[in-house]
Amino acid sequence: MARIKILTGKVGYMENNQHVVLEMEGVKKQYGSYTAIQHLDLSIRRGEFFSIVGPSGCGKTTILKMIAGFEYPTSGSIRIAGKSSDRLPPHKRNVNTVFQNYALFPHMNIYDNVAYPMRIKKMGKATIQKSVMEHLDMVGMAQHAHKAPQQLSGGQKQRIALARAMISRPDILLLDEPLSALDFHLRQDMQRVLKQLQRESGITFVYITHDQGEALSLSDRIAVMNHGILQQVDSPAVIYQKPATKFVAGFIGKTNILKGVFDAKRLFVLSSGRTGFRIRDEGAYEAGHEFYISLRPDKIRFSSKDESYDNCIRGAVIADVAYYGSEREMMLNTEECGPLLVKLHEHDSADLTVGEKVDLYFRSEDVISIPISGADYE
Ligand SMILES: Nc1ncnc2c1ncn2[C@@H]1O[C@H](COP(=O)(O)OP(=O)(O)OP(=O)(O)O)[C@@H](O)[C@H]1O
Ligand SMILES: [Mg+2]
Repeated sequence: MARIKILTGKVGYMENNQHVVLEMEGVKKQYGSYTAIQHLDLSIRRGEFFSIVGPSGCGKTTILKMIAGFEYPTSGSIRIAGKSSDRLPPHKRNVNTVFQNYALFPHMNIYDNVAYPMRIKKMGKATIQKSVMEHLDMVGMAQHAHKAPQQLSGGQKQRIALARAMISRPDILLLDEPLSALDFHLRQDMQRVLKQLQRESGITFVYITHDQGEALSLSDRIAVMNHGILQQVDSPAVIYQKPATKFVAGFIGKTNILKGVFDAKRLFVLSSGRTGFRIRDEGAYEAGHEFYISLRPDKIRFSSKDESYDNCIRGAVIADVAYYGSEREMMLNTEECGPLLVKLHEHDSADLTVGEKVDLYFRSEDVISIPISGADYE
């Protein structure tokens, strides 16, 4: 019997946790005959910064809409703060959403925009004023209280949208790519603001982003989706260092994926029949059963100065070199493993040229093994 782990349904589910603010169990969502979410089990703790990442169309916004109540699941259950919410309309859930396009009321000034949720709840004038000014202060916008939304920049509008979404202390704040309309520098500023606001307020953030780097740096936990299936839910470090599926390994950071089996000597032999690599991370794999290995581009070297570099690929031909400011990446064609991506280190020679042949080295301990999973798409 193969002991290769197959991805099962309950990837993101924690049972018996009293600090859970959101539980989605067996959730499926169809739009007509199209299945956007195949089967989702997910639970999120109170106070977490939780991110959902995945390629366009994988179902991220659909999940948020079901949490907010803008869409109902086709089947399965949703509990928010302990309350069954499958068919609860949005205004009966203590959940707010911040969208990419700010959605401020154009006819109200900044103060009134932020005060609006409290006025709806008919709170006292003094309470409202104190809370609005506190929230404007938190997002660094107190001095702009009397401006109109049209007078603000994109980043400033997004700060106001955040203050307004947080003022009613939602159980969950949903953020659907809130920074994607901002330029690179503003985006970095706003990432810091978001992290700080989340930490200080203790509100649970469920954050969608296309940007896996952003998810790694901001989140307590990350859910990685593909084709309406949850691939993995874990801390950023585990997602990066021990991806559960081939998809996660390739989506979070760049990597080289190879498929093969252990031979009788516990050497990893590629499915193409070539080469035996030593690998340390043996998982639960048995001789004769295929699995993947992931080898990050920054783990491959051009020389074996150190004897811990115990694997070698000879005669790799440099096909392409790309410069990214302080970093360089190189694509190489190898007979044994096909194309390989290598990140150059500072001390690597600057005059490696296209067409040149080199030998590549890597350590058995830097190879990550990954089971072949039912959720893989070739
Ligand atoms: N109202 C709808 N009717 C029909 N199909 C829909 C509807 N909303 C979404 N879909 C489809 O469901 C799938 C998931 O959509 P969703 O908006 O959740 O993706 P996403 O992960 O948020 O993508 P993106 O990163 O592009 O925003 C897509 O294939 C989309 O076309
Ligand atoms: Mg979306």
